[in-house]
Amino acid sequence: MQLLTLSAPYTSMIDRAAEIWLAGGLVAFPTETVYGLGADATNPLAVAKIFAAKGRPHFNPLIAHLPSLAAAMALGRFNPAALALAKAYWPGPMTLVVPINPDCPVCDLARAGLDTLALRVPSHPLAQALLHRLARPVVAPSANRSGHVSPTRAEHVSSDLAGRIDLLIDGGAASLGLESTIIACLAEGPMILRPGAITRAMVETVAGTLHNLPINADKAPIAPGQLASHYAPRARLRLSVSAVRPGEALLAFGSPSLRGEDQAEFRANLSPSGDLIEAAANLYRMLRELDATGVAAIAVAPIPGDGLGEAILDRLQRAAAPR
Ligand code: TXA
Ligand code: MG
Repeated sequence: MQLLTLSAPYTSMIDRAAEIWLAGGLVAFPTETVYGLGADATNPLAVAKIFAAKGRPHFNPLIAHLPSLAAAMALGRFNPAALALAKAYWPGPMTLVVPINPDCPVCDLARAGLDTLALRVPSHPLAQALLHRLARPVVAPSANRSGHVSPTRAEHVSSDLAGRIDLLIDGGAASLGLESTIIACLAEGPMILRPGAITRAMVETVAGTLHNLPINADKAPIAPGQLASHYAPRARLRLSVSAVRPGEALLAFGSPSLRGEDQAEFRANLSPSGDLIEAAANLYRMLRELDATGVAAIAVAPIPGDGLGEAILDRLQRAAAPR
């Protein structure tokens, strides 16, 4: 695996990535949410390599990344809600699931055979430059082994995928740190499939009242990636604790002190000032760091569930789910 950092000449980095993509290879690259593992979406052999590198179930479809709304509209059908959302929040941390256009070049494997397609226009300047340069859709799941915590730094990608991918572009820490908000814009009206930095309130402002995702995520999930256990560290997680038990590590939020806090084996604070944006950006790195200490369990302090808190709690609940 070749590693390029931002100190490399920008254009040669973009050229190298495009060359690898056109040859059917895999390039991990930064986005504003998490690092993605990209392949040419029109090349089924390249897409198959993503599933192999991640150890990802083939029934789980991928997001196609495009440089612009115009490029995205060539691939899928945008109803009025989809169009309004795209105009409001693209480029940015939002993925729209729409019906595919009949001549859509994204291969069947990338879509897991569905007749819908997940589309995203990321805002990260490096991702933008790469996508403009390639001028083809790039499918990119988070650049981690399937089921692991998503990578927010290049070193997370290399520890999961070194030797399995062709190129890793190091663009520093991801600014948001949580995967994009996924919104289905299909016949039945807009529905959030995965909460993220584009919050429920932000979506409703633009698209009106949302439909609710059927709760039972185990039965034929609409977003196949919405399996209950996901984003999982090795250690057990206890959420919204009022006390830390002996032998546990503590993942704190804000300043209230918890019973037993002094005895925590290890500790990290998502945001000492209680800022949800800072907490989202730190979540996956701190989970990785606490997990790496080898503790059997991580106690997580209460976190408010409004705004970005909904996405943070969603990821924590998946990380805590029995597996
Ligand atoms: O922020 C992000 O979205 C990152 C960066 C790299 O862009 N990508 C990401 O991809 O999180 P991934 O593969 O880890 O998550 C994609 C999710 C999965 O839960 C998948 O099931 C869902 O999108 N998905 C993809 N296509 C879908 C479709 N047609 N219908 C419903 N859900 C879909
Ligand atoms: Mg993922």
